[in-house]
Amino acid sequence: MKPSSRSNTIEYAIRDVMVPASKLEKKGIVLTKLNIGDPNKFDFKTPQHMLDAVCDSTERFDMGYTPSEGFPEFRQAILDYEKSKNDIQATMDDVLVTNGVSEAINMIFAASLDEGDKLLLPDPSYSTYNSLAKFYSASPVEYTTIEEEDWVCDVDSIRKNIDEKTKCLVLINPNNPTGSLIPKNVVQEMVDICGEHDLFLISDEIYDRLTFDGKFYSPVTYSKDVPIVLMNGFSKLYLVPGWRVGYMCFHDPEGKMSGIEESVKKMARLRLSPNAPCQKACYAALKGPQDHIKDLIGKLHERRDFAYRRINEIDGLETRRPEGAFYIFPKITHKGWTNDKKFVLDVLENCHVLFVHGSGFSSDKGKMHFRSVFLPPVETMEDAFSRVESYLRSVKG
Ligand SMILES: Cc1ncc(COP(=O)(O)O)c(C=O)c1O
Repeated sequence: MKPSSRSNTIEYAIRDVMVPASKLEKKGIVLTKLNIGDPNKFDFKTPQHMLDAVCDSTERFDMGYTPSEGFPEFRQAILDYEKSKNDIQATMDDVLVTNGVSEAINMIFAASLDEGDKLLLPDPSYSTYNSLAKFYSASPVEYTTIEEEDWVCDVDSIRKNIDEKTKCLVLINPNNPTGSLIPKNVVQEMVDICGEHDLFLISDEIYDRLTFDGKFYSPVTYSKDVPIVLMNGFSKLYLVPGWRVGYMCFHDPEGKMSGIEESVKKMARLRLSPNAPCQKACYAALKGPQDHIKDLIGKLHERRDFAYRRINEIDGLETRRPEGAFYIFPKITHKGWTNDKKFVLDVLENCHVLFVHGSGFSSDKGKMHFRSVFLPPVETMEDAFSRVESYLRSVKG
């Protein structure tokens, strides 16, 4: 029997590289996996009060479905949290709890995109956007980001790519895979562009508080009338990627997106409800101590500094300094390779280190790059990067 042609479009490079990696693991080879953005795989621990809250919730037999939009008190807590950071204009009705930001992306695409609709994505960007847009028969169009300027979004490229089929603009800030943090004036200009062309903006803010030297600016602060779908979640900042809790908030002061918002709610009803006990525990996360965040950012800052310095020491690699998230996106300048996927597979085979090929995030700017996380302790990264360094030295360039 044939799989659907729609499913043929699905690609997710970050996990697809696990297929060759698992073959090596089956042979007993131990790999250093720098492919997945999961802090819990390293020395980061979920705050104890969140673990207590999930146990408490399950012990009290809170096992039923929840309202499809999420528990009301949790939605209110999310709204209060967002209002404490941004000038978001929304009510509790505009907040929807999702099974991770991944589900929020799926829902907004399903509710807003028809065949042939265009959406503008940064090049490079988190693979889910491109793959899901194609799944819904829409046309993802990449706008340029400028590597020499720390991968900032190129507003001229955004303008050039807009036509009458364009429906929305996606901003991922800080970006995955580049770690770029978008300056205030660029964020403002992106809001203005949406206003000029009657587009809505999707603002993926999952790494908003994981920044090092610069400051994060949310587009909702600059939008008087431009509709924005703000997405965020608990996977990264609260160290619970496996709990699958995220949310979306509609900032839509003039109600331009109310039809789409209603369709998203229909999607939410169709999938019944988000995870019940983990909603309770994420409520506790917002209301409880926030001490772990300082420690998380402190460790990441040190590890970012190390990864940036050490990778630039390796002949054949060159990288910009990420200002947020926990990814670094080096360029392969070594003359021994002309294809980034081949590079990643060769490094896997010869160094037992797993990265993700840059073209898995992009059809253009990501070529001849790879993504590594800088989540592990410095010693683990030193060990992995030295193996890569020795290997590159041994290959003729
Ligand atoms: C930019 C971005 N958006 C969304 C997600 C999905 O996160 P979640 O675990 O909330 O589904 C990720 C995961 O890595 C991400 O990097």
